[in-house]
Amino acid sequence: MRYFIGNWKMFGVPKSINILNKINSFHSKDKNRKKYRVIITPPYTLIETFANYFKNKSISIGSQNCYQKEQFSSNTAAISPFMIKSVGAKYTLVGHSDNRSEGDTNEMLKNKVQFALKNNLRVIFCIGENKKDKKNKKTFSVLQNQISKVLKKKFNINNIIVAYEPIWSIGTGKIPSKSELEKTIIHIKKVLKKLFKKKNFTVLYGGSVDGNNVQMFKEIHEIDGFLIGGASKSSKKFIDIIKNYYR
Ligand code: 13P
Repeated sequence: MRYFIGNWKMFGVPKSINILNKINSFHSKDKNRKKYRVIITPPYTLIETFANYFKNKSISIGSQNCYQKEQFSSNTAAISPFMIKSVGAKYTLVGHSDNRSEGDTNEMLKNKVQFALKNNLRVIFCIGENKKDKKNKKTFSVLQNQISKVLKKKFNINNIIVAYEPIWSIGTGKIPSKSELEKTIIHIKKVLKKLFKKKNFTVLYGGSVDGNNVQMFKEIHEIDGFLIGGASKSSKKFIDIIKNYYR
């Protein structure tokens, strides 16, 4: 199974559902539709409307983050996994670099993953090195650390998707070379294998994915799909990624 996940970040108002409608009608008619899933993570304000609207359709809705407590608390503006699940989301991102840079620690991320899973949300756990880590050849150890500090053996890894997003690639148009990326994805799978004693994991790539470069990513068989930012805000660009992937 492949995944095409669109992360809208701070984008969208109710009428932006038009974008998803176009993606949904493409997906529902696509001859390859059984080979992949489409998930969109809109901002919190749109989760309920979108999840209701797409309830019996091809697209699934996820959240971009969740709070580190399970249900209710006195933290202003916090939204828990329980609340996200209650409005129809099936997934949540955890650990996006935008949130790590705003202060999400490994301990917080561990709680987020734990409570999201407990509330039957599937987790898309984001990891990635920054420019300095890459320059200092620390990528592998940074990724290993990000995984082992957050994902605990007792977590149900079947409900966790790992998204590798090098920070230096997000929104920059810069992407890793094929051989570099292939080695990194294999490394991530190795780390997961050691931790969970299992064979198959879902590991996605994210960072400046578009309709032109997706063919290169396709050649790396270990990549199970994509976490797409900028290009997910346009139905045409998002559909082009899927079309070119299966061309
Ligand atoms: P871009 O596709 O805009 O580089 O964003 C990637 C991302 O951060 C998705 O979560």
